[in-house]
Amino acid sequence: MNGRRLLLTSAGAIAIVALLVSIALAQGMREKFFDRDGRLVVIERSAAEQLRTYDIRSSKAPETFPVPPPPFSEGIFPCSDCHAHMSPDQRPRVLTEEHTDIVLNHAEGQRWCLDCHNTDDRDTLRLVSGEIIPFSESYRLCGQCHGDKFREWREGLHGKRTGYWNGDKEYLLCAHCHNPHDPNFKPMKPMPPPVRPGETRR
Ligand code: HEC
Ligand code: HEC
Ligand code: HEC
Ligand code: HEC
Repeated sequence: MNGRRLLLTSAGAIAIVALLVSIALAQGMREKFFDRDGRLVVIERSAAEQLRTYDIRSSKAPETFPVPPPPFSEGIFPCSDCHAHMSPDQRPRVLTEEHTDIVLNHAEGQRWCLDCHNTDDRDTLRLVSGEIIPFSESYRLCGQCHGDKFREWREGLHGKRTGYWNGDKEYLLCAHCHNPHDPNFKPMKPMPPPVRPGETRR
């Protein structure tokens, strides 16, 4: 073998190796590790396998959600305007002096106002666990008993969510649609059928 041919062959070999390396780099990666018995294990990972994929399980749902202000009647909040000067009355009873428009129709046999409202600070709500939450998180109160609806709401299946699919979102509180004291929607009276042109309504 003369010197020239040797040079050409080795140049060709180097080119082939370089090509293989660049293909390997573009296509994937090798993962090397030793198993429990001390044997070397080599795993080839394709480029696609290395791509970070969107996985719903790795996107953790937040604990609090951006919501518009709670839908209080005018002048009722802060409750402490009156309640700070009153001693709480824990007896279940018919209210006669104030809040007479509030009539519980929501598993009322099993509870009363102060199962949801904080006895010691009327400006907040109270969970069964004893945790005190603001009215802007009332969905957590509802979620204690309506866990299925809460999870659907969180994912945007129940209720109303606006914003970007991969960005900021705003949620309506359960209380924007359901009256917490009487949450069932009342049946609606159907509208009369439309009147045809030239016809008069009987
Ligand atoms: C199931 C839990 C629950 C029970 C039981 C409950 N409330 Fe409420 N109440 C709420 C929530 C949640 C809100 C907040 C609504 C909102 O965000 O505007 C609220 C709002 C109110 C408001 C403000 C209403 C308005 O017009 O803006 C008053 C007053 C009130 N409750 C009094 C009472 C009284 C009195 C009782 C008992 C007779 C009672 N609540 C029982 C959950 C409850
Ligand atoms: C204008 C004054 C006033 C405001 C504002 C007010 N309350 Fe009351 N509240 C009263 C009075 C008076 C009673 C007692 C009514 C009775 O015994 O007939 C009462 C009773 C209650 C009770 C029954 C338990 C108890 O201690 O007597 C709850 C629960 C309650 N209020 C919650 C609220 C909440 C929640 C708010 C704010 C969203 C609020 N109130 C705002 C005056 C007020
Ligand atoms: C302590 C448990 C409990 C909490 C907290 C609670 N609920 Fe309920 N809810 C019930 C039960 C039990 C019923 C069915 C009995 C009834 O309607 O009286 C019910 C009924 C309902 C219904 C009617 C469902 C139907 O099948 O027609 C709606 C809507 C509702 N709740 C919404 C809410 C909202 C909104 C909140 C938060 C403000 C809330 N609930 C908090 C126990 C709870
Ligand atoms: C944008 C308005 C809206 C919001 C926000 C909302 N709901 Fe509802 N919800 C509805 C409507 C509409 C229905 C269907 C009523 C019907 O069929 O009579 C409903 C039905 C329900 C029912 C009865 C389901 C059944 O199977 O009969 C429950 C319980 C309930 N909602 C709980 C919640 C809770 C808890 C939240 C907050 C985590 C919430 N909702 C938020 C509009 C809303």
